[in-house]
Amino acid sequence: MTAPSKALIRELGDLRRQIEHHNRLYYRHDSPEIPDQEYDRLFDRLLEIEREWPELATPDSPSQRIGSEPLSGFVQVTHEIPMLSLDKVTSEAELTRFESRIQKRLDSQNDNDTALEYSCEPKIDGVAVSLLYEDGLLVRGATRGDGTSGEDITHNVRTIDEIPLRLEGTGLPKRLEVRGEVYMTKSGFAKMNAAAEKAGEKVFVNPRNAAAGTLRQLDSRITARRPLKMFCYSYGLVEGASLPDTLSGVFEKFAGWGLPVNPDRKSCRGVAACYAYCEKLLGKRNDLDYEIDGVVIKVDRFDLQDELGMNARTPRWAMAYKFPAEEVATVLNAVEFQVGRTGTITPVARLEPVFVGGVTVSNATLHNMDEVARLGLKIGDAVIIRRAGDVIPKIVSVIPDRRPQQARIIEAPSSCPVCGSDIEHIEDEVLMRCTGGLFCRAQRTQSIIHFASRAAMDIDGLGVKLIEQLVDQELVSSVADIYGLDVATLAGLERMGEKSAGNLVAAIGKSKQVTLARFLFALGIREVGEATAHALATHFGTLAAVMSATEEDLVAIPDIGHVMAHHISAFFTEEHNRTVIQALLDAGVVPAETTPVNRDALPLNGQTWVVTGTLEAMGRSEAKEKLQKLGAKVAGSVSKNTDCVIAGPGAGSKLDKAEELGVRVIDESAFLSLLKQHDIPV
Ligand code: IVH
Repeated sequence: MTAPSKALIRELGDLRRQIEHHNRLYYRHDSPEIPDQEYDRLFDRLLEIEREWPELATPDSPSQRIGSEPLSGFVQVTHEIPMLSLDKVTSEAELTRFESRIQKRLDSQNDNDTALEYSCEPKIDGVAVSLLYEDGLLVRGATRGDGTSGEDITHNVRTIDEIPLRLEGTGLPKRLEVRGEVYMTKSGFAKMNAAAEKAGEKVFVNPRNAAAGTLRQLDSRITARRPLKMFCYSYGLVEGASLPDTLSGVFEKFAGWGLPVNPDRKSCRGVAACYAYCEKLLGKRNDLDYEIDGVVIKVDRFDLQDELGMNARTPRWAMAYKFPAEEVATVLNAVEFQVGRTGTITPVARLEPVFVGGVTVSNATLHNMDEVARLGLKIGDAVIIRRAGDVIPKIVSVIPDRRPQQARIIEAPSSCPVCGSDIEHIEDEVLMRCTGGLFCRAQRTQSIIHFASRAAMDIDGLGVKLIEQLVDQELVSSVADIYGLDVATLAGLERMGEKSAGNLVAAIGKSKQVTLARFLFALGIREVGEATAHALATHFGTLAAVMSATEEDLVAIPDIGHVMAHHISAFFTEEHNRTVIQALLDAGVVPAETTPVNRDALPLNGQTWVVTGTLEAMGRSEAKEKLQKLGAKVAGSVSKNTDCVIAGPGAGSKLDKAEELGVRVIDESAFLSLLKQHDIPV
């Protein structure tokens, strides 16, 4: 076998240098010098030589970036120095408290009265990654995982053009573990999803998921085609050289070694300046080509960081300032009218899909025609929509000077869009209601969906799609018909097999044993939510007693007013409803009788509680039932009227809100002892 000639080796070295040079110009400086075809020609020649002379391939050759044969699985990597997470705040006041805590700790040891220097950086919404360089060569890439150990993704990080395969410059440590966030640009994400949609492939919900999914590819050739990037923001291991003694100094070093650092970072003196940075960045948020969810603020000097140390999982010297709700502009393509369970007809906005608050949104509720009028909305309008955290997206406003000439007026329907029945206008014409009752397919479907739902009869496996099929095929026309379904009928439906049909029949059977409160809630009486259903059950004790209660009997219950009393009494007077209830009882549904209780004697009577996060000993709905047994009202959100919040791990905005309002917060163990104290079994 012949050896490669000296000329060839020289050519190879030249090619690699040229390609790296053009990569740098292209990726880092956004200013390519040569046309794409010219670059491709160089790259093809490199591949050709490496194919012919495999012994000349090197781990830092640009050819590494095109990916390699799929791996069979991921190898775990233990982080010698754990990868931490951050505490978060959402207000300037909390940020000031963060600074005071720091000052207090440091003041006890030093006498420094000058404001501290902080490094402020966009908080990238991507995937935390660790890169290990040995003698400047990239030898390992790993995910953060749980902070202690992650997965080896070296094959994938090698394909990310921005990540140097070899560090450049001088003063390199023998070993250096660089940490940062791998992310997908918004523009790259949009392009990739558009192509995937066209090809009928799976689309990702947001850039973060796309980045995470891409880094978990076993086949790095797929990763190589996806638009991933990275920002480096800290380091772990360092051996054989010392780094600068401030984070801002380290960023300069990183940049000099060819590592990507965020150009939007800034050093700020004092937390007031940090807050100004946060506000400025928030203003720029939608202009950035990467998703951010806030700002990370870190004490710049490492000696002070060391002095401040750690809490359990988070450093005391850093804080994430989380941004509030996000708003973006899009276009209103159409308005459709949806018919709900009680016949209420609601306008729903169909929007040009847009990425906001972490997801792609294409619908928003408009509540009622009053809202449409208030916004001055027309079809075709450019609108601002808002999606805060995980709440339902809404239209905030119209952008008047972007109204197209052919914008159309939104007209309310004159009859039910589903069944054609007349519409009745209620509450000063604002609300429209279909008068079709259970004749209307939409109302039937919605009432069955409600009946089967988790907080009602909790029939596992009886979901929306299935109910729609059952109603459309006229297999079920009232909730009582659910109990007549058999395996053979169900197994014949779309996306159902014998096994799932069997499971569903079992779940239907199981739902027959139900508390009176759930049963009453499941009936879908207008205005009767879970709390009212519970109040009715504990007050009357039996279904028969509730059914025969007069309006006067009903208004005697706290929290039940005249309107609600009227709806309840009207519901049970209606012949059709009585027939359905009888059919349910005949089918074997047994709403458990409750001993009527004297509410005044209950320990939590008159109090409002909120449950958030996950509880270990029980689900949230179970916790709710137990609290109601103690007399508490259980609410879904925290306000100044909340008496106590039970917060389990993973508690988020509700806990923050409680802390902000100074509402009492207890953990699960305190809750369990409360239950024990009152003899409520867990
Ligand atoms: S510093 C102790 N800087 O946020 C320092 N983190 O909640 C730990 N993140 O897991 C991280 N941008 O994935 C830092 N500029 C930034 C960041 C950043 C995004 C992520 C990171 C981390 C999470 C912490």
